[in-house]
This record gives sequence, structure tokens and C-alpha cells, in this order.
Amino acid sequence: LSSEILAAIDAAETLEALDNVRIEALGKKGRVSLMMRDLGGMEPEARKQAGQDLNVLKDTIAHAIETRQTILADAALAEKLSAQRVDVSLPSRPHSDASLHPLSRTIEEVVAIFAEMGFTVAEGPDIESDYYNFTALNIPEEHPARQEHDTFYLPPDADGKRKVLRTHTSPVQVRTMETSEPPIRIIVPGRTYRSDHDATHSPMFHQCEGLVIGDGIHMGHLKGCLIDFCRAFFGVDDLPVRFRPSYFPFTEPSAEVDIGCTRDGGGLKIGAGDDWLEILGSGMVNPRVLENCGYDPDKYQGFAFGMGIERIAMLKYGIPDLRTFYDSDLRWMRHYGFLP
Ligand code: PHE
Repeated sequence: LSSEILAAIDAAETLEALDNVRIEALGKKGRVSLMMRDLGGMEPEARKQAGQDLNVLKDTIAHAIETRQTILADAALAEKLSAQRVDVSLPSRPHSDASLHPLSRTIEEVVAIFAEMGFTVAEGPDIESDYYNFTALNIPEEHPARQEHDTFYLPPDADGKRKVLRTHTSPVQVRTMETSEPPIRIIVPGRTYRSDHDATHSPMFHQCEGLVIGDGIHMGHLKGCLIDFCRAFFGVDDLPVRFRPSYFPFTEPSAEVDIGCTRDGGGLKIGAGDDWLEILGSGMVNPRVLENCGYDPDKYQGFAFGMGIERIAMLKYGIPDLRTFYDSDLRWMRHYGFLP
């Protein structure tokens, strides 16, 4: 019997088969167990000897099973490991890293620079009333600026009032002054809309507004703040910045801000040079606008500015056509270094 069972153990090729052999021999109704039970009916002398023999047999079988078990388990593990082996020489699967859209990235850059100067971000609605977009900003009905803005009008509501898609982020100046007290230092990134479409204009584009209101704010603050911004944004420490007199109904005096550049043929280089590039509009907040918002112009003064995000992104990254921002072309992203 012993050699028969030991042979069966050696022949078991799997852990499962081995377990069946174990049950057949040592299980409750196994052959060895049954023989143990038979001991009860034997003479004491014979029982002693048979009991010893059976115990030896049992131990031998148990030991053989254990040994075989280790061998089979090792083999199973080795097989599993070799089946799951990683071939480190295989070429990697193509994958692409995500990255921010260049416009989001530019907005984040602008916000980061102003955040360091103590500005916080404010926002307003894209669909604006005529009052906030124009009237409160000292752009009355029939003012030529209303035509220049190429406004998108929404259908009139029940009382004949037409909402507009905001043509600039300046209405958020008014909304902020109406709901908060000076000192105010806000930056307003957001979408703006004008009916215009070519290589440098899109019906939807982005602006970033800035507004500072306080006691004794003057043109020197405006200049210092915007010079610092231009140099930080374009990463040129000695970038020439020029303030050129201009006109906006909501600022007085008004200035357009130019930065130095060099143009050779088709190329454009930002920095000290013999040419200028306009990058933003600015000015001291018109006292009429302060009054419209309930402020006493003798008590508070301020400055405001507005810039086109697409425009400054095009200049910073050398992108010639504004429309390509909205093409969602990953090859374009890669070409300009926005994707690895
Ligand atoms: N809102 C102006 C524009 O869209 C820019 C501007 C903002 C000018 C604030 C002066 C002050 O052109």
C-alpha cells in the first residue's frame, strides 16, 4: 500500500491532483484512515504493532505529500513568472501628455504676475446689459464708440431692452465698484465678443481688464504697474515701454501702451529696438464713471487697463494667425512648443 500511494504522489502533476491523492489516503474515508478505524477490533498485542506501523505509514505519506507540494508550487510560480515576464526592449506605446491651451496658459501667466502685485481675480457675465457695457462707462447712446465695437445684440426682452454680448471686460469695472469699497485691485480675464473676423480678429476673443481704486492713486501708479507687467510678461528686464496719449470714454487721460521691438523682414523681436508694438489700452478712471458707481471723485481715484489675450499671446509666442487658436490642432500646439 505504501509504495502504491507514494507512486501516486510522485505521479500527481498538479496541486489539485496531489490533493486528491491526499484525500484518498488520509482523508476521513481515506484508505489509511479506514485501516486506523479497524484497529479497534484487534487483539491488544497485534493492535500495538499495527498502530505503530500505521503511524509510520501516515507520517511517510504526509511527508511525501509535503515535498511534492513544494515542488509543484515552485513549478507553478516559475511558470506564472515566465508567462508574465516584461520585455523591457519592446518599444513604448504612443501616448501624449496633456497641457493647457495657450490662451489658458497666457491668462494664467497674466494673472500670476498681477497676483504678485496684490490683485485678485474678478469675473462678470458674458451676456451684459447695455448699461454696464456702455452707458455706465460713459459711452452714451449715439456715441460713435458703440458702432466701433461691432456689437452682437440679443433679441429685445419684454420691455424692449436689448442685452449684448459684452464687447470688452470693462463692464466688470462697474460691477465691482458697485458692490465693493476701495481699495480695489482686481484683474478680470474673460471672453469678449465683436462682429469681426480675419487673421487678427475673431468674433469671440479674450481680454484681461485691470482696475485699481484708492485714495490718491495717480498716473505714476499706472505707469509703474504696467511697465512692471510688460517686462515680467515678455521676460525682458529692460524692455522699453511707451505711453502714448489716446482716447477712451471711460478713462481720462487715456494712454495706449507700446513695447519696444525690432522688425526685420517677416521677423519680429520684442526688446530694445527701433520700432513699437501696441499691446494695451489704459487710463485714469473717468470721474464720470466713478460717479456712476456712487463714488466721490474727490475722495477716490483710480486707473484701469485692458489687454487682448490673443494679441499678447501671438506676440509672445510668435503666432501669426489668431484663428489658429480655435482649430484644436495638436500639430499646431506641438509646433509652438505647447505640447512635448
Ligand atoms: N475696454 C478697452 C477696449 O476694449 C480697453 C481699456 C480698458 C482701455 C480699460 C482703458 C481702460 O479696447
